[in-house]
Amino acid sequence: MFNLFRFFFAVLVILLIVPQTPTENNLLRQFNNTGLFANYGEAKWFLNFITRFSIFMFFVITLIAVLK
Ligand SMILES: *[C@@H]1O[C@H](CO)[C@@H](O)[C@H](O)[C@H]1NC(C)=O
Repeated sequence: MFNLFRFFFAVLVILLIVPQTPTENNLLRQFNNTGLFANYGEAKWFLNFITRFSIFMFFVITLIAVLK
């Protein structure tokens, strides 16, 4: 069960980071184009938040697994 969460966040981190390059951010454009966000800045903020949150969660879960 625990390893399932780790795997889930590992995949999520990869999927979130790979499309985001400094010169082109396909994921951000897709987020913006969903129309869920009021503007580009908001989509950018949300994507940044999700990316950092996923990395943080992966580290926390891994840390817990290591310390156990
Ligand atoms: C973001 O989406 C809006 C409307 O959905 C669009 O007008 C705008 O051009 C998009 N911005 C970028 C940078 O793609």
